[in-house]
Amino acid sequence: MEGEKSSIFFVLLFLNVIWLVGSVSGIGVNWGIQSTHPLPPSTVVKLLKDNGIQRVKLFDADPDILDAMKKSGIQVMVGIPNDMLYTLANSVQAAEKWVSKNVSAHLSSGGVDIRYVAVGNEPFLSTYNGTYESTTLPALQNIQAALTKSGLSNRVKVTVPLNADVYQSSSEKPSDGDFRPDIHDLMLQIVKFLSQNGAPFTVNIYPFISLYSDPNFPVDYAFFNGYQPAINDNGKNYDNVFDANHDTLVWALQKNGFTNVPIIIGEIGWPTDGDKNANLQLAQRFNQGFVSRYYVSQKGTPMRPGPVDAYLFSLIDEDNKSIRPGNFERHWGIFYFDGQPKYQLGLGQSKGLVAASGVDYLAKKWCVLKPSANLNDDQVAPSVAYACENADCTSLGYGTSCGNLDVKGNISYAFNSYYQIHDQLDSACKFPGLSMITDKDPSVGTCKFRIMIQTDSAAGIDGRIWFLRKVFFVLLFYIITIIM
Ligand SMILES: *[C@@H]1O[C@H](CO)[C@@H](O)[C@H](O)[C@H]1NC(C)=O
Ligand SMILES: *[C@@H]1O[C@H](CO)[C@@H](O)[C@H](O)[C@H]1NC(C)=O
Ligand SMILES: *[C@@H]1O[C@H](CO)[C@@H](O)[C@H](O)[C@H]1NC(C)=O
Ligand SMILES: *[C@@H]1O[C@H](CO)[C@@H](O)[C@H](O)[C@H]1NC(C)=O
Repeated sequence: MEGEKSSIFFVLLFLNVIWLVGSVSGIGVNWGIQSTHPLPPSTVVKLLKDNGIQRVKLFDADPDILDAMKKSGIQVMVGIPNDMLYTLANSVQAAEKWVSKNVSAHLSSGGVDIRYVAVGNEPFLSTYNGTYESTTLPALQNIQAALTKSGLSNRVKVTVPLNADVYQSSSEKPSDGDFRPDIHDLMLQIVKFLSQNGAPFTVNIYPFISLYSDPNFPVDYAFFNGYQPAINDNGKNYDNVFDANHDTLVWALQKNGFTNVPIIIGEIGWPTDGDKNANLQLAQRFNQGFVSRYYVSQKGTPMRPGPVDAYLFSLIDEDNKSIRPGNFERHWGIFYFDGQPKYQLGLGQSKGLVAASGVDYLAKKWCVLKPSANLNDDQVAPSVAYACENADCTSLGYGTSCGNLDVKGNISYAFNSYYQIHDQLDSACKFPGLSMITDKDPSVGTCKFRIMIQTDSAAGIDGRIWFLRKVFFVLLFYIITIIM
């Protein structure tokens, strides 16, 4: 028996070692929290560990998230939001405080493995009209100086996650690539600074957006199945837009004298809803294709063969993101808002994704349109508009998961979204004469009428009730002991 036990032990140990070694170079994920009901950080950290995800990119330096990451062994890129760039650019002291509070404190207080600071997020997007052009580099320099001053410059590297339109090609060939003319000099200064500090260039690449914004874009060129005819660039073949986009950057860097700057793909992914090209099948095809080609086979691109360093966008859906870029914005997760996997995705070692555990849901109740409601009631339109403005209707519309609903289904979907996002309050299902609460799941086919998860405040109440119960039983125990 003993021998059997110890051999099982060694097999398990061995499997663990393989798993650890195998996942060290694994793909990272972006963890954003623009959700009405975010999962508790500890639940997400467990989700990451259960799925063997070893690297995480954050958009902020949220203390609760960083605390949950303590001793997890997960490598972290913390972010500085764009609205802090002005202050950090103009004050060395502010940068030092930022580093002290948001990096040093976590490194020293028991092990959050912070590897990078992302200064700003896509600050040169053209929709920002140049707002952050004068502050990004000085903020980067001040943060670097603060890291150096605290003796962390070897351990923690700075970078700036940039949108891929900071470079472009005058033809379809990557070798014609260079930085965008209006920010050419600025880009060279930034790259020079990164290069001097051994820091990586971070870029977000979105084949989905290429397809979304250009109806003539060849769909298969967005994926990794060997699109033909491939683009021939001086003997190098490009059969997918990711390779071509990545190597346009490699050429832009090379042309300006920077051959060895490491490149990180800050965001890569595919949404699952909110557009006709955003669905589970295409997202699975894209993400699995990416992981298999660049992580499992470590193919690299024609200009940079070998391992690619990338963070999937994203880990979990965020139902409070701005939908200005499009309705798909709230559906980038490989997991739904509640930590349920959307589709099978092998991240290298494992074949499928593991769901979040210990998630508490609200009751099995939905808010829907009353069967007796009159669709010509003039309260219908304003009620739906109000619900959609204050909840999430991005799964309605042509080509989406609920695109096949009839008018009544549409109205119910909007009401239910509002009701769930408002924690199933009775007052959130009071659309005048139109709505009612039901315990019959209205979901049909791909269209899921979701039940919201409990938030921290709801869990807090539960926690207190549980604590009171425990106190009660302990007292009861003492009373019984005394009596006996
Ligand atoms: C959703 O986002 C808006 C605008 O960014 C913000 O004002 C609001 O507080 C957020 N709501 C929740 C529940 O997080
Ligand atoms: C640390 O980061 C948080 C989140 O971005 C920010 O609100 C806070 O101001 C930062 N602390 C300092 C001292 O800059
Ligand atoms: C950028 O400029 C456009 C047109 O002038 C304006 O509508 C938009 O609000 C501006 N955006 C920002 C972020 O300043
Ligand atoms: C349902 O709502 C969506 C989004 O508001 C709209 O595009 C669609 O036409 C509606 N469908 C029906 C049948 O009313």
